[in-house]
Amino acid sequence: MSAQPKEIFLKDYQPSAWNIDHVDLLIQIFEEETVVTSNLRISRNPDGPKDKDLVLHGADLEYVATSIDGDERILDENVFIEDETLRVKDVPDAFLLNTVVRIYPEKNTSLEGLYKSGGMYCTQCEAEGFRKITWYLDRPDVLSIFNTRIEADKELFPVLLANGNEISRGDIHNGRHYVAWKDPHKKPAYLFATVAGKLEKTTDTFTTMSGKEVKLELFVEPHNLSKTDFAMGALKRSFKWDEERFGREYDLDIFMVVATDHFNMGAMENKGLNIFNSAAVLANEKTSTDADFERIEAIVGHEYFHNWSGNRVTCRDWFQLSLKEGFTVFRDAEFTADLHSRPIKRIDDVNMLRSAQFPEDAGPTAHPVRPQSFIEINNFYTLTIYEKGAEVVRMIHTLLGEENFRKGSDLYFDRFDGQAVTTEDFVACMEEVSGIDLTQFKLWYDFAGTPVVTIKDDYDATTGTYKLTAQQMVPDTPGQTNKPAFHIPVKLGLLAESGENLTPGSNDTNWDAKTGVWHLRDRTQTIEFTGLKSKPVPSLLRDFSAPVKLNYNFDLDQLALLAQNDANAFNRWDAVQRFTTQLILAAAEAGTEISEVDERLLKAYEQILADENIDNAIRAALLTLPSRPWLAEQVDSIDPIAINDARQSLRVAIAKAMAKPLRGKLNSIKRPAKYEFKFQDVAARRLRAVLYAYLALVDDKVVAELEAQYKDANNYSEQNDALQILNEVDDKASWAARLEDFIKEWGDDAQMIEAWLSLNSTSKHADLAHITKMLKHEKFDKGNPNRVRRLIGAFAMNNIAFHAKDGSGYKFLAEQVIDTDARNPQLASRMIVPLTRWKRYAEQYAGEMRSALELIAEVKSLSPDCFEMVSKSLK
Ligand code: TRP
Ligand code: ZN
Repeated sequence: MSAQPKEIFLKDYQPSAWNIDHVDLLIQIFEEETVVTSNLRISRNPDGPKDKDLVLHGADLEYVATSIDGDERILDENVFIEDETLRVKDVPDAFLLNTVVRIYPEKNTSLEGLYKSGGMYCTQCEAEGFRKITWYLDRPDVLSIFNTRIEADKELFPVLLANGNEISRGDIHNGRHYVAWKDPHKKPAYLFATVAGKLEKTTDTFTTMSGKEVKLELFVEPHNLSKTDFAMGALKRSFKWDEERFGREYDLDIFMVVATDHFNMGAMENKGLNIFNSAAVLANEKTSTDADFERIEAIVGHEYFHNWSGNRVTCRDWFQLSLKEGFTVFRDAEFTADLHSRPIKRIDDVNMLRSAQFPEDAGPTAHPVRPQSFIEINNFYTLTIYEKGAEVVRMIHTLLGEENFRKGSDLYFDRFDGQAVTTEDFVACMEEVSGIDLTQFKLWYDFAGTPVVTIKDDYDATTGTYKLTAQQMVPDTPGQTNKPAFHIPVKLGLLAESGENLTPGSNDTNWDAKTGVWHLRDRTQTIEFTGLKSKPVPSLLRDFSAPVKLNYNFDLDQLALLAQNDANAFNRWDAVQRFTTQLILAAAEAGTEISEVDERLLKAYEQILADENIDNAIRAALLTLPSRPWLAEQVDSIDPIAINDARQSLRVAIAKAMAKPLRGKLNSIKRPAKYEFKFQDVAARRLRAVLYAYLALVDDKVVAELEAQYKDANNYSEQNDALQILNEVDDKASWAARLEDFIKEWGDDAQMIEAWLSLNSTSKHADLAHITKMLKHEKFDKGNPNRVRRLIGAFAMNNIAFHAKDGSGYKFLAEQVIDTDARNPQLASRMIVPLTRWKRYAEQYAGEMRSALELIAEVKSLSPDCFEMVSKSLK
């Protein structure tokens, strides 16, 4: 491995010695190089350390010139370039710094800084990409006013964009032109953006709550113009929702969105100029599924909501990343819940949390929501920062209630507008408005690991009292042991044996009768409920009120009762999950197949199919078995093949036992003639797909029906439903032929190529030989992160062939990581994730995974990104 990269610590934080009061950028794009001229008005920060030198960040910059205060003092001899910094010796307390650098966006494959994506130039500056554009204090607590002038060839790049408002444009010599932009809001460099391209736009307007008209512009490459309507609608819904739920109004005259094909993440909230991965913004019914529409609406919302939670109020340092990301994920989740279905959004999010964040929190890269150190900040855009961070904000919402939470967020936005702050500042506002002491609660920010809450109960028939005793334990994680007790809100209810939902009565000081929340604060804590005529069944952790693993020794009768009667839709779902988890894990451990389904489960399923009080989306969720990763997370030593086989055997057994009612329900669902992205229709499609997935295992007619659905559906959602199931049950020849047809039909559409790559990598027929062959397919492009993720990433995450006992799947992934790392470290580092959990696997897998990690570790010029992941995993 290369020399150990530097670790950075939260405890070492110091304010900047210098302020940058004003930035003037000139970006001149030429065919093979770009020249960046920067004028920074710099002054000493009175609250910072008393440095004599100015030290700016810069990476991959070609030095051209530097001067201070005009041309009076050329100071090349006072300038030193070392370790990605530019040191200017002995500077005065206030001065104008001029620098000129040359950069090569055409050769920038990292997709950070200024790079070329197809025929367009665009930027990605979060977290530390601005330093690849020019010398700067590239840290989020240095906020400045930016003026940007971009120049480029007028014919090739008619559209030139940057943050803020356009102030002038004009032609210059040699067929070139310029556009100048001014952003009136102070911002850190990570929110800077510029774009140059031959782009078309869709426009609209939004009138804000104070009556101001905002121009909305969505820029795409011309062939994508037919895919912009949905995102534009989602954007307007986002503007409106943030006004209504959070009282937040937009603050510029124009809001621009640009779609680009090459992007490391989903999208980026640059001030007034959001840049999106094409896959996270472009949609129409011919090429997008319901899930795509849902995800796009959520991401459009997410980036827009950052305008307040992230941009107007930003992070002091990158350890505070969850301040903006956790809060903004909470906001976008509420947006989705308000617009569609609250319980379904909760079920989807909890599925993701349990399947992906819990494993992260139990693995070698586990870190607190507010980490204490990192090597590469790009590695910390994690499920823990985003999703667990959102859960922490959600718990604050639960503790305060909607009204006080809103007061707290108003105070936060008001008090810290234009500043760079910490998670402490956020929590302090919530305490101030509510009078609630969150001292203990804040431990959630500082300790990693998913808390385990174990609940036992005891019923006393003579007094009619029911006692619950909860014990909490936060597991050790790298660098953290012996953790203190957390404040954990456990929302709960009680059901009578008849299935009736009771109103629990208790005068315990930790019981909040209004919200039904039991506040755990001690390692062990007991509560007594009175007035119970018989032993109740507890419905625990309703709505997943805290991101914990909750253990209670449920027997199958209790779970069957909850599955049919729990008034809390989320817990009803969870009861079925717990029930089927017990069956699957017992079989997996015994190495047996499930050939007969427990009667109680069948009864519950039949009741779910018939229940008229639930919608089809809930019905579909209730009928879906727990994900393989979540099942794996619940065993001591993972055998992925045994878990897969056991889960599959239960699916087959259910399908056999229930073929009739499943078919009956399926036939009763009408397919709407016209595609619309609206809840009832989406729910109906979701349920049809779940029912078909069962029936396909036992009913010979299904293949022909799904083939017909694939052919005659007028929308890709239904086509994809058919494809996903056929992908599983097809014989190899039909599978290959169908994929061939698919790419012939859709080979011109980037998003459909991506869908096709996943179909290629997730089928049971997709063995290593197939994936290796796919790498050479003309539609695969290793420079495009979406395609890498859909082929290689999906293979490693979802495919059983990845876990081949000879370790060939793991070795393949290691080779692909190494190959990718040379181009795009941020992407490569994420590809390692499936290997990092090797200690959790049964011996025969673990050893091979470890060997694959060692292959990566041996690489001489490994990036800091991959170094951090691999070294933490091998420790
Ligand atoms: N701030 C972005 C978001 O969550 C995340 C992001 C987009 C990002 N692109 C990135 C983070 C590149 C790191 C690197 O909305
Ligand atoms: Zn974000």
